[in-house]
Amino acid sequence: MINFEALFKISYGLYIVSSGSSEYGNGFISNTVFQVTSDPPRFASCCNKDNHTAGVIRSSGHFSVSVLHCDTAAGIIGTFGYKSGKDINKMEGLDLKYGETGVPVVLNEAIAFLECRVVETYDVGTHLMFIGELVHADVLDDGKEPLTYLHYRQVKKGVAPKNAPTYVDKSKLVKKKVEEEFARYECAACGYIYDEEKEGKRFEDLPDDWVCPVCGSEKDDFYKL
Ligand SMILES: Cc1cc2nc3c(=O)[nH]c(=O)nc-3n(C[C@H](O)[C@H](O)[C@H](O)COP(=O)(O)O)c2cc1C
Repeated sequence: MINFEALFKISYGLYIVSSGSSEYGNGFISNTVFQVTSDPPRFASCCNKDNHTAGVIRSSGHFSVSVLHCDTAAGIIGTFGYKSGKDINKMEGLDLKYGETGVPVVLNEAIAFLECRVVETYDVGTHLMFIGELVHADVLDDGKEPLTYLHYRQVKKGVAPKNAPTYVDKSKLVKKKVEEEFARYECAACGYIYDEEKEGKRFEDLPDDWVCPVCGSEKDDFYKL
């Protein structure tokens, strides 16, 4: 028997993993960045094969990791975590720097960054696990705490979409009975607010194929306020 609630007890951070060059770059939100060796320092990053960034990392051979701070705006998580570089240019208008390998590093909302050269790529099923050797790293802001996945889930009421390795199908979770008042839900991509009281309907009672009336994001892309 697998109690999927147990999986939420695993700790992670939240990062923007980017790749490409000064000509073209793309990135995605990842909670699966972690250090795997200390000498030399190597980091793993797990990227869904369907993510546009997977191909960009494969062809450039480098990736950067921007460590997000705990008050990171929902908008940047919406853009990098729910939209794809197949459809939009995520880097447009952002504060970027280019690392020693030429890889773009997103500086918005970042308190530190890492730059890695890919030394191994493992096919782990739905995802590719890139192992990168650290070539450059720096602290950008010492005064803020890093964003953890727990904070994102519990305080920001965020969820992980299907491409995230930690995605859990809600039907697999043991249902908890709670007394609820009317709630409000915000679209992580565009900020539209669904107000249950105003709409006269519980958010969870909306059909699965319901989409955000403003930007067309799926129901899963909303988080409870
Ligand atoms: C909280 C959160 C954590 C995520 N973690 C991962 C991850 O570790 N690996 C992954 O492949 N996708 C992860 N995703 C999903 C990608 O960020 C998402 O599919 C993104 O739109 C892919 O962008 P791209 O197609 O431009 O590469 C996560 C998303 C969120 C919101």
